[in-house]
Amino acid sequence: MKKEKSKHTILILGASGFLGNALYKELCPYFRTFGTYRIPKREFEKNQHFFQYNVEEDDVYEILQAVKPTIIISALRGDFSAQVIAHAHIVEYIKTYKSKLIFLSSANVFDAYSKYPSYENDKTLSNSIYGHFKIKIENALLRLPKKHVAIIRLPMVFGAQSPRTQEIKYFFKEKEPIEVFPNLIMNVSTDSKITQQIHYIINRNKSGIFHLGSNDLVHHDDFIKDIITALQIKTPLLKQVFTTNDDRYLAVLPKENLLPKHLQFTSKDVLSELEV
Ligand SMILES: NC(=O)c1ccc[n+]([C@@H]2O[C@H](COP(=O)([O-])OP(=O)(O)OC[C@H]3O[C@@H](n4cnc5c(N)ncnc54)[C@H](OP(=O)(O)O)[C@@H]3O)[C@@H](O)[C@H]2O)c1
Repeated sequence: MKKEKSKHTILILGASGFLGNALYKELCPYFRTFGTYRIPKREFEKNQHFFQYNVEEDDVYEILQAVKPTIIISALRGDFSAQVIAHAHIVEYIKTYKSKLIFLSSANVFDAYSKYPSYENDKTLSNSIYGHFKIKIENALLRLPKKHVAIIRLPMVFGAQSPRTQEIKYFFKEKEPIEVFPNLIMNVSTDSKITQQIHYIINRNKSGIFHLGSNDLVHHDDFIKDIITALQIKTPLLKQVFTTNDDRYLAVLPKENLLPKHLQFTSKDVLSELEV
């Protein structure tokens, strides 16, 4: 464990968030791990490995210079244009210091293709502002030598503490309808699987494009109903939302860049983590 700890210095941008914080907890026993937060919170302010950072106001280069990470994990949200500029600065840092960026991207980079699930080398195309912004950063990263970048495309992420699961509980408590999309076919993931997968990618020094979702596909409405059952919520109020007449895929499946079997999973594994 000691040997591994000295190998990398990791900076997680967005380490106070759902996925960033799960990654911080997973990696900090093994590596020198630093993180950023935006909203002041005692937990982070008193941790000397945390820096306050607002992508709209602060220069990421200052934190990069202070930490000198060998691996940067980008798990940020925030203004899209500001994020594009920040990632341009990260690219400059990577070129200079020969370090590596692990970028959390999204299945939305394919949201203009609705007829099939998408694979790693498929051409990206999006109809949404969010998808466009992720594509823009991905394209800048794909111009770097491959070994310096891992692009992690994620489907919807659930998990006991995920904002999506918390939202379902909140809507039920407030007697508000829970929205389901019966035409949407997707795959899913959970924070615990993603952290294990990214830990493996770091340990094995893997790079390229990764599609980190369940191996199987689910209908959004069925899956949300299964979550509701797993949470032991009785008599929920559901609102069916139809965005198109036809089925629409938002799924990122792996084909070229497969992780080992023990890191692959199904939607049932995601559900079983939620069972109370
Ligand atoms: N969760 C999913 O289902 C999902 C699916 C696909 C892709 N992703 C991608 O995964 C990444 C992490 O998502 P998440 O769900 O973990 O998000 P999250 O819980 O909202 O966390 C976002 C992080 O970014 C920070 N942040 C927000 N606004 C900022 C700003 N203006 N300046 C600097 N930092 C800012 C937050 O800090 P504070 O907490 O202090 O505000 C937090 O640390 C995102 O890039 C997202 O696109 C997530």
